Amino acid sequence: MNSRLITGQNLRKSFNDGNLSVNVLKGVEISIEKKQSISIIGASGSGKSTLLHLLGGLDVPDGGDVLINGRSINKLDDDERGQIRNKHLGFIFQFHHLLPEFTARENVAMPLLIRRHSKKSAFSKAEEFLSEVGLSARMTHKPGELSGGERQRTAIARALVTNPSCILADEPTGNLDEKSANDVFELILKLNQNYGNSLIMVTHNLELSRKTNQVYELKDGILKTL
Ligand SMILES: Nc1ncnc2c1ncn2[C@@H]1O[C@H](COP(=O)(O)OP(=O)(O)OP(=O)(O)O)[C@@H](O)[C@H]1O
Ligand SMILES: [Mg+2]
Repeated sequence: MNSRLITGQNLRKSFNDGNLSVNVLKGVEISIEKKQSISIIGASGSGKSTLLHLLGGLDVPDGGDVLINGRSINKLDDDERGQIRNKHLGFIFQFHHLLPEFTARENVAMPLLIRRHSKKSAFSKAEEFLSEVGLSARMTHKPGELSGGERQRTAIARALVTNPSCILADEPTGNLDEKSANDVFELILKLNQNYGNSLIMVTHNLELSRKTNQVYELKDGILKTL
């Protein structure tokens, strides 16, 4: 069995803005193995989020292919892509995307409730993961009643609660102060080691990126090893 979890092969992506076409990715090669942590740095607009969306099957490439657990994303329809995402991947977005009208516990339980777990077992798992991220005293707070760092930690708990093979994190520390950013980063790395999932992290922060197993830079549409 191949230990490669996600592979991007010769990934190309452009966007059309009116009559102007922007080539964002011009042949990106990347692969992540089980339990590995990698980070992707690059200037604003260099295509980091675009690449992460392709690797997570949220969008399809114009050229090249993404293999998730050996299955080609190009050969799947939207439903099948959704199933692969649900089964194997956990997303942490730059802006937490928590549901404002639900409590932290309900937000974290949501992916399990969607999978038709009972409310009791979903809530108990949510509580376990919220404790893991240091939020046992915030279970019934709504996102508006949490600090920025607490919201990001809730989003981390939500991404991990389904025990995904790989976490894809898009600047999860981007809008936090230095101390909170560092804490959240360390937490994601610790959980990556404890739970044995792989991690692909997009960040602006070169210093933090060096804590992952491998650092890449996206520049001029190409990914280079740093
Ligand atoms: N849906 C879209 N339609 C048109 N252009 C897009 C779209 N998504 C991204 N782009 C363009 O592609 C380029 C790369 O965007 P992307 O969001 O991947 O950059 P990024 O590296 O994540 O930047 P940042 O660090 O600011 O988040 C940008 O020039 C952006 O304007
Ligand atoms: Mg981005």
